[in-house]
Amino acid sequence: MMRSDKSRNREHIIQHYDLLIEENNDPVHDPEPLKEYMDQWDGQAFIDRMQLDGTQSVLEIGVGTGRLAVRIVPLCGLFCGIDISPKTIYRTKENLKKSKNTALLCGDFLDYDFGCRFDVIYSSLTFMHIADKHKQKAVIRIADWIKPSGWSCDIRASEEGLPNHPVFCCIILQRGFYVHFRTS
Ligand SMILES: C[S@@+](CC[C@H](N)C(=O)[O-])C[C@H]1O[C@@H](n2cnc3c(N)ncnc32)[C@H](O)[C@@H]1O
Repeated sequence: MMRSDKSRNREHIIQHYDLLIEENNDPVHDPEPLKEYMDQWDGQAFIDRMQLDGTQSVLEIGVGTGRLAVRIVPLCGLFCGIDISPKTIYRTKENLKKSKNTALLCGDFLDYDFGCRFDVIYSSLTFMHIADKHKQKAVIRIADWIKPSGWSCDIRASEEGLPNHPVFCCIILQRGFYVHFRTS
């Protein structure tokens, strides 16, 4: 039977990130200059934007080894992270093993049934793996996993930052269906 483009793409992503772990590539343990470099995309301003007060439930899509999660977990009530790469999520569990309020899941977020909703959902440097034509649909799907509380829709973008723009990479969804993303 012919494999679909979707399943081929998924296998490539898993292979890529599993191999990075085999090479011991773990951004949680990057040296300081590299961490500062990454802060260009999703540094303190990105984290502040989530307005976390220690009580919210938070989902990170494409959690990786936990580069952002290690900073977010202490700020929320419950942290859930999902990643498609089994070796990556194994490493994430190691990196976050001291945290009690975490659930780390291995799977494709596009197919996953979380069985609950979250106060805040964010994702960084993961949407580039979704074909441009599917990005908008993915954002709408994620929006369904936000707790309802009188939603309005407000999708904001920097000048060229439409959800189907190729460099669209960082996103936060939270109360009020606020979508924030930036382009590099
Ligand atoms: C570039 S890494 C970013 C990791 C983390 N967000 C960070 O910024 O450090 C992208 C991550 O997204 C994961 N990923 C890609 N497509 C995914 C999907 N459909 N479902 C879940 N995880 C996915 C990859 O396995 C990888 O760990």
